[in-house]
Amino acid sequence: MKTLYLATHNLHKKEEIQNIFESHPVLGGLFRIESMDSLGFHEEIPETAGTLEGNALQKARYIHQKFNVDCFADDTGLEVAALGERPGVFSARYANMPDSFEESGFVSPESLKMPDPTFDQNIDRLLFKLQNKPRQARFRSVICLIMDERTYYFEGVVNGIILHERHGIQGFGYDPVFQPDGFDKSFAELDMARKNAISHRGKAVEAMVSFLERRAARP
Ligand code: IMP
Repeated sequence: MKTLYLATHNLHKKEEIQNIFESHPVLGGLFRIESMDSLGFHEEIPETAGTLEGNALQKARYIHQKFNVDCFADDTGLEVAALGERPGVFSARYANMPDSFEESGFVSPESLKMPDPTFDQNIDRLLFKLQNKPRQARFRSVICLIMDERTYYFEGVVNGIILHERHGIQGFGYDPVFQPDGFDKSFAELDMARKNAISHRGKAVEAMVSFLERRAARP
């Protein structure tokens, strides 16, 4: 059995991804997903590239080089059309960004050095900046997999709208204010299996799973 390490300390993400792997019994018998804890690694993983692809590669490469293991990392951004597709790659640090960020995209070096704001602070800024603007948005996830010394990318997207208020308590991040198209509930009102079936990360992980299944079936 091959072990793939997931380069994140985010327990919600780990649980979501492990859940998807477990729903594929054949693959579950071929690959085991392990967390950073099993490597005894608790430090922060650098995430300083300016794109989702760059961050996913940076995180996967950092763990690969440090521990010489096969591993993967995901990076996700919330892209809001009326805000010039921002906060995007800066979703985790949105509340730290300068006032003009939505218009100019300018990111000050100081804002990158600050500790991450809370999920609630990021949501508050988003709701404040959107006010009466159109509320179309999408989550985009990119996974970078480094396996057998080769690098692969997988992407997943889910379209939806930003709600005016928080709904639900499950999930994490912007889940309480993101309602996926075709649903009348926010991500935070869906259980993990339903979120995974339609979410950005769910789709990116499924793309990786299909790739691993095709590869495993090769003679
Ligand atoms: P990361 O850098 O991939 O961990 O994600 C950046 C930020 O995007 C996180 O801090 C969350 O605020 C947000 N985010 C990522 N995935 C999700 C999700 O599935 N639901 C809601 N917010 C998310």
